[in-house]
Amino acid sequence: MITDILLKEHKELDIDISKFLENPSTSNLDNIKDKLLLHIYKEEEIIFPLIKNEELKIRGLEMEHFAALTLLEKIYYYLKHNSIDLVIKRAEGLKRLLYQHNLIEESEIYTKLNYFDKDLIESVKNKILNAKIPVGWKCIASRNFL
Ligand SMILES: [Fe+2]
Ligand SMILES: [Fe+2]
Repeated sequence: MITDILLKEHKELDIDISKFLENPSTSNLDNIKDKLLLHIYKEEEIIFPLIKNEELKIRGLEMEHFAALTLLEKIYYYLKHNSIDLVIKRAEGLKRLLYQHNLIEESEIYTKLNYFDKDLIESVKNKILNAKIPVGWKCIASRNFL
């Protein structure tokens, strides 16, 4: 059930990036940013802390979150300067990065959620469904660079 919610978010983001590639508008990019940041927030603050014995893998996934968000800022920059070729190139890069990233999460991290006990699953599900990003929240890997 938690896995279903997270898988749906992966799918939606993939579709949203495809839409942006067809129509690279600021509003389509804003939509990707809102959804991607909230998804990353849920993983880093709610899901990852519950996963045991996977520290290295999780550090890698957090670095990829930072890379994806940095790529997103580059797309904003190129969009603002009307460099559409670079917008498309970077958006394709983001799509590829998330594809690989999501495969790892789906096969090696989300699968571990199935072994949690019922009460924990219920409380995590509620947290996921009601999650709101605190003002000024930054992804974990980016904090080392500030
Ligand atoms: Fe992720
Ligand atoms: Fe994810």
